[in-house]
Amino acid sequence: TPTLPTVRKVGGRIGAVVEGVTLGPDLHPEVVATIRAALLAHKVVFFRGQHHLDDAGQLAFAEQLGTLTTAHPTVNTGSAHVLSLAATQGMAANSWHTDVTFVDRVPAISILRSVTIPPYGGNTVWANTVAAFDALTPPLRSLVDGLWAVHTNEYDYVASSEDPDGDSPDRDALDRGQFRATYYETEHPVVRVHPETGERSLLLGHFVKRFLGLNTAESSALFQLLQDRVTKLENTVRWQWQQGDVAMWDNRATQHYAVADFDNHRREVRRVTLVGDVPVALDG
Ligand code: SIN
Repeated sequence: TPTLPTVRKVGGRIGAVVEGVTLGPDLHPEVVATIRAALLAHKVVFFRGQHHLDDAGQLAFAEQLGTLTTAHPTVNTGSAHVLSLAATQGMAANSWHTDVTFVDRVPAISILRSVTIPPYGGNTVWANTVAAFDALTPPLRSLVDGLWAVHTNEYDYVASSEDPDGDSPDRDALDRGQFRATYYETEHPVVRVHPETGERSLLLGHFVKRFLGLNTAESSALFQLLQDRVTKLENTVRWQWQQGDVAMWDNRATQHYAVADFDNHRREVRRVTLVGDVPVALDG
């Protein structure tokens, strides 16, 4: 039997560090099973010191946990499966979201590898959407139980970005035009049942446009109220990236936010996502 990695919690409700594993191809099935179990239990797991990993190694690791999605539904990344998120000032992901919820089959798992880490700032924060659901008061719970939300890719990624040099790759890659080149719109239940754990979670994030049956004012008030529950600090873990770090999250049970506080320094992370299911509501 292989030496199994150890799992150490880094937050009360979400997040663990997995130690004693070198990520790459050909991991022992029991090692993969340990990592998957840690992911399901802790929602986001972190691996330090994976300096050896390149795109191919990241993909080979990912493939042992599921099926690769294309790099992005609309953004031409120049790579079949790897999405490079690079930025100097401001960035694409500095608002709370679950990845790619504007498609029917929301990715199950995202794996993010640090390539260039700024000297300060640029942390990523994750929130546990299962714990957020569990903490709802009964009246709120009955309000959301049968509710559905419209998700679209109309979200404006570049609205808050500033790019004084005009040369950072994200200006092109996550340009409003390209991101929205093909319009996606889908409806998902607000309360989703996790296909592996059976846990219930709130499926929201910045791609939500409105709730079915509510008017605009009601939609935005309820959205804010629920998002506030998801992103309550006790419900989150904040990761200070180091070179060689890899983060892997359960995209069916989390939201995340990349903090844009690294001035003109360069930050590059690369993301691989794994195929997920069409989210299932409480009534199936
Ligand atoms: C993402 O939203 O997937 C990227 C998060 C990050 O850049 O830290």
